Amino acid sequence: MKVLNQWAVVTGASKGLGYAYCQELLKKGYHVLGVSRSAQNILALQKQYPELKVRACDLDLSTIENVYKLYDLTKELNVTLVINNAGYGVLGKFQDSSLDSEINMLTLNIDALHILTKLFTQRFLRFNYGRIINIASMASFTPGPGFASYYASKAYVLRLSTAINYELKAEKSKVRVISVCPGPLKTGFWDRAKPSEAKQEYKSGVPVIAVDVYAQKSLNKALKAKRKNYILIGFWNRVMRFFMAVCPKSWSLKLLYKYQVSR
Ligand SMILES: NC(=O)c1ccc[n+]([C@@H]2O[C@H](COP(=O)([O-])OP(=O)(O)OC[C@H]3O[C@@H](n4cnc5c(N)ncnc54)[C@H](OP(=O)(O)O)[C@@H]3O)[C@@H](O)[C@H]2O)c1
Repeated sequence: MKVLNQWAVVTGASKGLGYAYCQELLKKGYHVLGVSRSAQNILALQKQYPELKVRACDLDLSTIENVYKLYDLTKELNVTLVINNAGYGVLGKFQDSSLDSEINMLTLNIDALHILTKLFTQRFLRFNYGRIINIASMASFTPGPGFASYYASKAYVLRLSTAINYELKAEKSKVRVISVCPGPLKTGFWDRAKPSEAKQEYKSGVPVIAVDVYAQKSLNKALKAKRKNYILIGFWNRVMRFFMAVCPKSWSLKLLYKYQVSR
């Protein structure tokens, strides 16, 4: 492994996909700054990579002030990669789901990601170097009855990132803002998404890719992407994407509604 002397900032680093990204980035020789409400566990990765730097930062990014605080903390670091991964969902029919939880979710999934994307794009453009990877979802491609606000938040992530990436390519910049669109992964995501009375063992209904494999494949593709705006990994996710593109909206909405409310 070659030490790159470049920093990667990963939000939502303490577990799930974000933790797996931290592991992959260290394998590639990046120093890593991991952020989440409680990120200290990632410091254990330091032992495996004594030649690299691992920093943990405990910040709740659903508070806007903390998003700016995070950016300020990175000012002295040679950051070349940002992975906006922190996010969660509030499952349930719109009429029943908690408004407070949804507003908190939208602040994290949309506002925090938007602010960090803006500030780092501006900073990277000064050096014409750097990449932002925004974690969207297969949910970005369609409205999601039964999970409405989460799907809408991920549509925002994909549309924002795609438009910025187009601008960057049109201006012949080397900076990129790439979306990654995971399908269902077995992580803590589903424990947080469900209301407490609906907690039961996670069932995706489609074959699920292991989180570490997903992180490795999606990171490799997102780091290499030149023309692509978003990354899809796995046969079933491609099938779902194709289905969503060709299937009449009334069918996909009906199927999604059944799928989400049966969870
Ligand atoms: N799992 C799936 O099926 C799936 C599918 C498509 C897309 N995604 C997306 O993938 C991303 C990662 O999700 P995951 O599946 O890895 O879920 P996860 O296991 O629940 O991990 C979420 C991460 O975000 C952090 N986080 C949550 N709230 C935060 C806050 N307010 N401020 C800062 N950090 C916060 C969590 O750490 P703390 O609890 O310590 O704060 C954790 O590190 C999300 O954007 C999610 O929408 C997931």
